[in-house]
Amino acid sequence: MASVSLRKLEKSYGALRIVKGIDLDIKDGEFVVFVGPSGCGKSTTLRMVAGLESISDGEILIGDRVVNKLAPRERDIAMVFQDYALYPHKTVRENMGFSLKVRGVAVKDAETRINEAAEMLGIAHLLDRRPGQLSGGQRQRVAMGRAIVRRPQVFLFDEPLSNLDAKLRGQVRTEIKRLHQQIGTTIIYVTHDQVEAMTLADRIVILRGGDIEQVGTPDEVYNKPQSVFVGGFVGSPAMNFAKAKIEAGHVCFANGDRLPLSAIQTGKETAFDGRDVIVGIRPEHFVTAADPAITLTATVQVVEPLGSDTLVHFDMGGETLTARMPPDMRPTVGATLRLGLDPSKVHLFDAASERAIG
Ligand SMILES: Nc1ncnc2c1ncn2[C@@H]1O[C@H](COP(=O)(O)OP(=O)(O)O)[C@@H](O)[C@H]1O
Ligand SMILES: [Mg+2]
Repeated sequence: MASVSLRKLEKSYGALRIVKGIDLDIKDGEFVVFVGPSGCGKSTTLRMVAGLESISDGEILIGDRVVNKLAPRERDIAMVFQDYALYPHKTVRENMGFSLKVRGVAVKDAETRINEAAEMLGIAHLLDRRPGQLSGGQRQRVAMGRAIVRRPQVFLFDEPLSNLDAKLRGQVRTEIKRLHQQIGTTIIYVTHDQVEAMTLADRIVILRGGDIEQVGTPDEVYNKPQSVFVGGFVGSPAMNFAKAKIEAGHVCFANGDRLPLSAIQTGKETAFDGRDVIVGIRPEHFVTAADPAITLTATVQVVEPLGSDTLVHFDMGGETLTARMPPDMRPTVGATLRLGLDPSKVHLFDAASERAIG
């Protein structure tokens, strides 16, 4: 196992800067997830760590070794891709053992490692099958097994679940987490799926346009998003945003609703006077029994019962708000309600910079 450090890591293609100076220290044994929209540089960063892509500037350390100039096979890492190419004519056992054979690991030792990994992944009964005789989820497990048997210092995963259907994705996701709990090896995992990021990560790195937007535990990025981008990216359904202005200690919305700033954040009521803000409210932070002073007036547009809860979409003076409400809630479409809020869960962002304030 090993720590991984990125120091001012850069990647450019000609004049095009793709990765713009990333600094990050990943602890030994940590499960770190890089998340962000398509094209933000996740794969490029991971491929630089793997040695599959050259580095334009900066340094990568695995343990205390600078690996910039080391070939992939000298870095002691194992990578699992979305397109896990298994050898179709080899058995599962042969697929898993191939890299060990190439590296000259003794047959007996290789056998032990394969059996252990297969046991851990629940594929011990499949060892004599060929990939064509496996389901998609089983093939993905074999691909992971192939990485595990090498006992690398670091695992790199690039969207390993993207080709699986929703149910299987959930199952394999849980298995990856269990696997990490068992073997404790450092993992860097790339995904565009914020649910995967939230459920798997010790720490999430949110990338945007080749830069780190925020790094934190799942709780930190969910509860304290430092920007509109992070607030909107993490959480499902997404955080609601509404424009407002701070006036006389109140957050004033376009429809005339006013929330006292003192209820949202204490001690800074006057500092923000006159400021244009974006108010962020998560769908799960509307409450039915509320302080009457802390409500928003909104008109019911669409009601979506989900069984476990009900999503209600509102119009608030031209802005759309989505609220996650109790399962038995069935408000009438067209009705205008006073929607209660948990004031401690309201986020304020500066309208111009889109950075969190307060
Ligand atoms: N060989 C290349 N030449 C030029 N641009 C590239 C090359 N490879 C990737 N890119 C660009 O780099 C950006 C980041 O790509 P990538 O790291 O694959 O994003 P992600 O994995 O986050 O979706 C994209 O805009 C992509 O088009
Ligand atoms: Mg990618």
